[in-house]
Amino acid sequence: MKICCIGAGYVGGPTMAMIARKCEDVIVTVVDINAERIAEWNSDELPIFEPGLHETVIAVRGRNLFFSTDVDENIRQADVVFISVNTPTKTYGVGAGHAADLCYVEACARRIAELGGGDKIVVEKSTVPVRTAHMVKEILEAARNGHAYQVVSNPEFLAEGTAIRDLENPDRVLIGGETTPEGEKAVATVAGIYEHWVDKDRVLTTNLWSSELSKLTANAFLAQRISSINAISALCEATGADVDDVARAIGTDSRIGPKFLKSSVGFGGSCFQKDILNLSYLCKHFDLPEVAAYWDQVVSMNDYQKSRFVGRMMKAMFNTVSGKCIAILGYAFKKDTNDVRESPAIDVCRRLLEEKACLRIHDPKVPAEVVLETLGLSDDAAGDDPTVTFCDSAEEACEGSHALVVLTEWEEYRDLDYAKIFKSMTEPAFAFDGRNLLDLRALEEIGFRAFGIGKG
Ligand code: UDX
Ligand code: UDX
Repeated sequence: MKICCIGAGYVGGPTMAMIARKCEDVIVTVVDINAERIAEWNSDELPIFEPGLHETVIAVRGRNLFFSTDVDENIRQADVVFISVNTPTKTYGVGAGHAADLCYVEACARRIAELGGGDKIVVEKSTVPVRTAHMVKEILEAARNGHAYQVVSNPEFLAEGTAIRDLENPDRVLIGGETTPEGEKAVATVAGIYEHWVDKDRVLTTNLWSSELSKLTANAFLAQRISSINAISALCEATGADVDDVARAIGTDSRIGPKFLKSSVGFGGSCFQKDILNLSYLCKHFDLPEVAAYWDQVVSMNDYQKSRFVGRMMKAMFNTVSGKCIAILGYAFKKDTNDVRESPAIDVCRRLLEEKACLRIHDPKVPAEVVLETLGLSDDAAGDDPTVTFCDSAEEACEGSHALVVLTEWEEYRDLDYAKIFKSMTEPAFAFDGRNLLDLRALEEIGFRAFGIGKG
């Protein structure tokens, strides 16, 4: 069997590497219109940092895993084509700011239809609004090239930072298809790929619409848990309760469960906000404004959490940060990834820059140019009189700063020599922990004025 995956991103790359590793009898080629990205996948410096990814790719690259810019020929030859291109929130026209932009998915469908090359199963791996498969199918059928196409929905549930672990041992694999004999055969073919390493009872099959909607729903529920605990963190700060204690106490209720109750400066990542906005747009489209408003609130709470965090910093630092240096520890949206999409650090840093603070930023995996780009700054901002300085270490970032702010929970920040760091900072020195990573009492003993999330 030959698989072609369109889109060598955070989802397509790791997923195809795992399929290639587990299915020696399958040839997997990942294609992308971005030649630079393909070159990186073919080099020793992969475009994505993800624990275990490098080893997985090295083991199979050139064996049955290939990265190529020859999009057309690889699509033509494939039996199964995965569409794993990005589906960002629309920035223009109808639904701007809410609806998913499906132009890349549609372009893929049109290309597949134009190229022919035999019967194919087309798999939606990208997260898409419900009924996208209908659009893909119509485009493929309109080609009238004599080939039979089946559209299958197979959303990916991996989380960045744990992608390889999640792919190797998924809670479930979800595959949706048409409820016709041909549709069921296509679902069985895609299921057969995963059954090389995933137990059959973890491979769930549904119709197309349930599968598409389940992905949006899963992300909405996960984000909702974070917004719920973050809402309680505000109340904890007002009352003297400790949000970590509350999370532990409620998490031991087996009906609630312990996961995804870590209060933070806010959730980020390429999916949560985009998918909730997409869900709420769908609700409005189907004339369900109350349902849309319910889910929109999860995003509003997240925005509130970020601005509340900056507000608390301002208040503690005598209502001004103008001209003060602030060390930003961590810029990625979570640890163990170099991804900064929708990272809460972006909003926090933008707000602090508006207040005329100088930022000294460190992140072990995010390069300086990416940080500057997300802040809408040119390289000049990091020139002679820098408002933003990118530092090679956390210690360097803290030197001379009035405050340190943890925005990503990188393990290396937990065990820094904070006594030494304190001595290098301007007093009174503040520590704001947006990830509840640090021991606040220990910091206070050193002399810091220390603040966590949801701790009075
Ligand atoms: C994934 C999913 O596909 C998306 O639906 C989900 O919501 C977020 O995660 P991701 O892999 O993270 O997207 O996206 P990205 O890292 O941006 O990768 C997409 C790749 O597709 C890019 O490398 C881009 O160059 C490529 N692409 C895009 C094409 O090859 N062709 C196109 O027409 C459009
Ligand atoms: C998410 C889903 O988990 C995954 O199933 C889906 O396929 C894609 O979207 P991802 O965005 O990669 O994955 O990471 P995730 O671990 O879900 O974290 C998202 C954000 O929530 C991060 O900013 C993280 O720091 C934050 N978070 C997570 C919290 O603030 N508290 C928590 O308890 C968990």
